[in-house]
Amino acid sequence: MLSPIHHTFGPHVTVAYLLQSLKQLCLFWNWKNGKERDWLRETLAQWFEARCSLFSSGREALLVLLRNLPIDQGSEIIVQGFTCIALPNAIHAAGFTPVFSEADPNTLNLDIEALEGKINSRTKVIIVQHTFGIVADMQSLRTLADKHGLLLIEDCAHVLPDTTGPKRIGVHGDFLMLSFGRDKAASGVSGGAIITKNTSVADLLKKEEEAASELSFITIKRLLLYPFIYAVSKPLYGLIVGKCLLVAASKCGALVAVITKKEKEGYQSTEVHRMPAALCALVRWEFKRFQAINDHRRALSKIYAAAAAKHSWNFPSGIQEHLPLQKFPILVPDADQVRMKLKRHNIHLDDGWTGASVCPRAVNQEAAGYIPGTCPKAQRLSGQILTLPTHPTMKQSQAHQLIGILAKII
Ligand SMILES: Cc1ncc(COP(=O)(O)O)c(C=O)c1O
Repeated sequence: MLSPIHHTFGPHVTVAYLLQSLKQLCLFWNWKNGKERDWLRETLAQWFEARCSLFSSGREALLVLLRNLPIDQGSEIIVQGFTCIALPNAIHAAGFTPVFSEADPNTLNLDIEALEGKINSRTKVIIVQHTFGIVADMQSLRTLADKHGLLLIEDCAHVLPDTTGPKRIGVHGDFLMLSFGRDKAASGVSGGAIITKNTSVADLLKKEEEAASELSFITIKRLLLYPFIYAVSKPLYGLIVGKCLLVAASKCGALVAVITKKEKEGYQSTEVHRMPAALCALVRWEFKRFQAINDHRRALSKIYAAAAAKHSWNFPSGIQEHLPLQKFPILVPDADQVRMKLKRHNIHLDDGWTGASVCPRAVNQEAAGYIPGTCPKAQRLSGQILTLPTHPTMKQSQAHQLIGILAKII
């Protein structure tokens, strides 16, 4: 198999996506400003019937939101164990303290009982993460937040609702954070948004967006080159050539790192940027096929769920049917070993969500504010989780191939 099965090698990069990104690459005079940015902001505002601000990534959007909330410096913000470093970093950069609460292995989301035990007089916000698109129990979380007078942020980095989709997303939270990163629900390679009906905070975010700097031409060019680099190297990944191309692209700085070394050490800059119009144009194009993307994710999730039932693979029982999962999680005793064996078949399932409570595993856990041992269930999960791809370039035939190989390994 020359072309790999993967999570992270340009998961949205179909031929049509590649052509769109090349088109944007040519329209260099429109890269920064332009009507595409206004279009995306207004479309999201109409979609969620709320106000919207755009930034150059989800983590920047979250940082701007947090520092404009009406809460005191040093307040505590609860996030779940088994999360992405982007969350604690944004919390620290905004001057607050992240508090990690236990994850529920049945949903990969916040364990609501454990969460209540973490709330004290310093707690001001809960960030809910719909992990891999598994919808959190928003009704219970809203009730709990109201009981304690807390703000509720929905981190929708892994899922966006569609017409047939989960209706409970984006309804109960005070704020929604979206990400348009390269492997997210809809991808502009990078980008993020905050959506809210809270007009006083929305006014502050609008000012922040207006005052934010533009990304440099060189950074925008690197982001727009990402689809091209993966489109060229992916089909050759089974040969050494593809791997060498990617390493060379990364070493010569043609690729923008998803998470930098500094971020892994717990640092996020307080400077934020506006979302480039060229990336907004890519998201606009993705929205045209968004229902099809989500239906594709549903179809693959159904195939994996049937295989898991047939082969008695353990998977989180809270996965509701018809969810457009960003990836389908199964739980195995030693996920690293399975991933290692899969590599021999040119199957690369390390998506960064493995081996640590605050992901990826190279993160300095203490610097992220996580005290090892405080979320044992989340830590155990991170060692057992093996996610199966549902992204737009993962074919159904590849899913069956993967299942066949897994059936022999597990
Ligand atoms: C759950 C979650 N929230 C937030 C983010 C941050 O999004 P972005 O990559 O757009 O900064 C990520 C990113 O990887 C994520 O997985």
